[in-house]
Amino acid sequence: MGINVALDGPSGAGKSTIAKKIAARMKYVYVDTGALYRSIAYYVISKGAQPGDKEAVVPLLPEINVSLAYVDGAQHVFLNDEDVSDKIRTPEISMGASAVSAIPEVREFLFGLQRDIAAKNDIIMDGRDIGTVVLPDADVKIFLTASAEERARRRFKELQEKGDPSTYEEVLADINQRDYNDTHREIAPLRKADDAIEVDSTEMGLDEVVEHIAGIIEEKAGKKRPPREKKERKPLLDFSGIEPVKRGKKLNPFRIFFYNLLRYIVLFCFKIKFNLKFEGKENVPKDGSNIFASNHRRMLDPVLIELQCRVPNSFMAKEELFQGNKIFVWLIKKFGAFPVQRGKGDTGALNLAIEKLEMGRNLVIFPEGTRSKDGTVGKGKTGVALIAAVAQCPVIPVGINYYGKAKIRQKIVVRYGKPISPEQLRITTPGPKELKLLRTTIMDSIKELVH
Ligand code: DC
Repeated sequence: MGINVALDGPSGAGKSTIAKKIAARMKYVYVDTGALYRSIAYYVISKGAQPGDKEAVVPLLPEINVSLAYVDGAQHVFLNDEDVSDKIRTPEISMGASAVSAIPEVREFLFGLQRDIAAKNDIIMDGRDIGTVVLPDADVKIFLTASAEERARRRFKELQEKGDPSTYEEVLADINQRDYNDTHREIAPLRKADDAIEVDSTEMGLDEVVEHIAGIIEEKAGKKRPPREKKERKPLLDFSGIEPVKRGKKLNPFRIFFYNLLRYIVLFCFKIKFNLKFEGKENVPKDGSNIFASNHRRMLDPVLIELQCRVPNSFMAKEELFQGNKIFVWLIKKFGAFPVQRGKGDTGALNLAIEKLEMGRNLVIFPEGTRSKDGTVGKGKTGVALIAAVAQCPVIPVGINYYGKAKIRQKIVVRYGKPISPEQLRITTPGPKELKLLRTTIMDSIKELVH
């Protein structure tokens, strides 16, 4: 028996996109069970029957042969030897699939096929009842959700790209109707298995969700099947050669001039676009070699922090960001981003961070390591404390607050707190106790600035 990952959730939560990415990365087979129900609906409709009419649907089942095949890793669905993979992706078939899936005989008909595939392969299977009915013993169960509006927005965009004329309102109504059907049917209704981990993707980017879920799978499935080759143990962090940062180094004055010119232009534009306020500006040092530690909500955050800094900032960004679009990568590098491998004690990135401080730049860190979906401030990683303790640089806590919905003139308040100095806290060595104290002090200060 291979590793079985069950991924359930409502329509449009992004299950298939995410499952495909994870399957490609982990070399699992991706099984889209929705496609099976869609194929049945397609057949039923092509025969002129109503997908919700049990009396008409059940007699058609013996005529149906559904199978899955994989071409270059992509799932293709065959209905009586016809490849229907594309034909089943219309709003009419979506609604039809929701209707046929409420018929117990249809579920029974597809049950064996789904179990067979799962028994033979390492799979990630998406659907509505995978964790509850099809694979109740799955190694990992994820329940992926997002608000109905967000799901409708994503689906609407997809349909528009395909040239489908449906309006957003129609797509939202469809989603609501399918949610209702899928959760209220008598047999195998959509619900979270008791042992499933819920992931709400409403405010998460695609890559963020993939990383998060892949992390959960790696952790859980890794226990079942430990990696074949033992990974080399990372050496313990060694900062013996690193001296506290010498402050007062001057950056090139032309660079500072152009940086500030650009900063004022961006500030001006942002003031027009947003209802933008800064509090605690007096806490922002005029010179460089400071660390700004902030909560993280949106991609915009590094720019917002920078708008009050008179010398350019560098900022640590997750390494995945450097694997995307080349222009985007060039741009973020120009603005001082450098990659960090999250959760891996990336000493290279820590050294680089200290080098940047040494050069007289400021350093922006988001200690939570990821964007917060709901605005709460998490525990934070120790990296920020480690850099501050080793470099002996002050940390300026920052709270970025977005109020209301993202729209023109959205209210944004950026609060800068009083600098926290490792020296004043008598933190002179990066020992575990010292780092914990420093991290907690920093995170508590950030929390105070977020309200
Ligand atoms: O995931 P999808 O949108 O392609 O699914 C189409 C329909 O099939 C959906 O409305 C509910 C149904 N379905 C189900 O009942 N059980 C599954 N395991 C997968 C899909």
